[in-house]
Amino acid sequence: MASCSASAPSSARALAPTLLLVLLLVASFACRCRCAPPDAQVTRLPGFEGAQLPSKHYAGYVTVNEKLGSRLFYYLVQSERDPTSDPVVLWLNGGPGCSSFDGFVYEHGPFNFESGGSTGSLPKLRLNPYSWSKVSSVIYLDSPVGVGLSYAKDKSTAYRTGDLHTAHDLHTFLLKWFQLYPEFLNNPFYIAGESYAGIYIPTLSHEVVKGIHDGVKPTINFKGYMVGNGVCDTKFDGNALVPFAHGMGLISDDMYKETSTECQGNYWNYSASSDKCGTALSKVNQAIAELNIYDILEPCYHSKNIEVTRQNSSTPQSFRDLGVTDKPLPVRTRMLGRAWPLGAPVRAGRVPSWQELGVAVPCMNDEVATAWLNNDSVRSAIHAEPVSSIGPWVLCTDALSVFNHDAGSMIIYHKNLTRQGYRALIYSGDHDMCVPYTGSEAWIASLGYKVVDSWRPWFADEDVSGYTQVYDNGLTFATIKGAGHTVPEYKPQEALAFYSRWLAGSKL
Ligand SMILES: *[C@@H]1O[C@H](CO)[C@@H](O)[C@H](O)[C@H]1NC(C)=O
Ligand SMILES: *[C@@H]1O[C@H](CO)[C@@H](O)[C@H](O)[C@H]1NC(C)=O
Ligand SMILES: *[C@@H]1O[C@H](CO)[C@@H](O)[C@H](O)[C@H]1NC(C)=O
Ligand SMILES: *[C@@H]1O[C@H](CO)[C@@H](O)[C@H](O)[C@H]1NC(C)=O
Repeated sequence: MASCSASAPSSARALAPTLLLVLLLVASFACRCRCAPPDAQVTRLPGFEGAQLPSKHYAGYVTVNEKLGSRLFYYLVQSERDPTSDPVVLWLNGGPGCSSFDGFVYEHGPFNFESGGSTGSLPKLRLNPYSWSKVSSVIYLDSPVGVGLSYAKDKSTAYRTGDLHTAHDLHTFLLKWFQLYPEFLNNPFYIAGESYAGIYIPTLSHEVVKGIHDGVKPTINFKGYMVGNGVCDTKFDGNALVPFAHGMGLISDDMYKETSTECQGNYWNYSASSDKCGTALSKVNQAIAELNIYDILEPCYHSKNIEVTRQNSSTPQSFRDLGVTDKPLPVRTRMLGRAWPLGAPVRAGRVPSWQELGVAVPCMNDEVATAWLNNDSVRSAIHAEPVSSIGPWVLCTDALSVFNHDAGSMIIYHKNLTRQGYRALIYSGDHDMCVPYTGSEAWIASLGYKVVDSWRPWFADEDVSGYTQVYDNGLTFATIKGAGHTVPEYKPQEALAFYSRWLAGSKL
């Protein structure tokens, strides 16, 4: 990031005429080095009572399709260390349909949000000592249009989308965003996210790299990407659960043997039929049905008010009952579609919405984010459209009328990107059952890359924080011990440790 405060010479009269040409050149350069749009700066944040923000924040919309009036909402948190040289990271949550404010509010944003007390009251924002803005500038982006605070005028067209279209819009966003913030063009740029962003990230990276090859301006200084508990490949992800359940002690050795024998290791494409494989799998499903899919160590709270609507899906009954509990906790569900349920791996073609899957996967509380982002004084402070104009913010939307998984397996993307020298970190909270680490480990092994630093523990502090293995072609795999699907939410200190080390190019 180049300096933004190019100060004009105080006394031009004192300069010799020969210097005028130089001066003009400098001036024209300074004009091209236009900096962050001043009206995008966030100067106050309702709920935050500190004297000043720990770094500069900017937020607003970027139009990615004029015809449809498609506008993507971003929130930039500049690095609290050295924004001029620290990396810039684009963060994407998954779904499809989930807002990246999940990351901002609950995972690695600059604040910890504390409930304001009564339901709907404004939360209190306290500084997060493990914010990823300690070591990088982070762009939280709501994508595709229709998600979070992003919206389009022509909903009927814009909200029918898919992987490839989303990647295209995201690339358009980046090109326009860097035109607005050219001071960041020289910083190393990374793309990161989790869950279904396991699809967004490689497909967008591919677009970015293609743009670089084609000489598209501005040139993005793309260095690599990071995927947490990411969706990657129908077979590998779909086959991951049974070995995970076995390794975690959720099913017995006998059940494991029966299932693997009957299904011959093909769990991803079973149909809930009465064959022996189906029978064995339904026993597995029963055994794990009451666990919190996003972190098997956590309880799964479920408001009794939420109706689990059954529509036509092949989701097993045990899964549909997941989370139905007698615990009378008055929590809202923060979790519709952050990723995909058991026995329903992401397949090619139209991705069913959570409503259609007939599951309401609960477990977490989204109250503070909902209260904060639906307060118009907050909306106005962050330059988002008011509730009356674009409706309420929801963590995961069902507004996308069609979302097609049309990019296929990500394995070929990962191969292509890593072989071209882009760095990749694939990390997994090892207690996530939604996109289990066993699947990520297996597809990575299938690449056939040479191991250059073999499986070993890594440490954030004095304790083992997880395990890691490094491959050639700049690919690192890491687990985070005891973390669920949204790693930084469970293990913020460990998350900042692996994040900052990996960005710096150091060993985990
Ligand atoms: C599932 O996929 C495997 C290959 O991965 C194939 O051999 C098998 O026939 C498929 N089973 C069904 C029920 O489609
Ligand atoms: C579900 O299936 C039944 C019968 O198979 C059909 O009558 C009904 O319309 C279907 N519902 C939906 C929402 O597709
Ligand atoms: C939004 O928050 C402010 C406090 O910052 C409060 O005065 C206002 O009533 C809230 N608005 C709504 C609609 O809740
Ligand atoms: C990666 O993809 C690009 C664009 O499709 C292609 O031109 C290039 O040859 C691929 N590179 C590798 C190493 O597969």
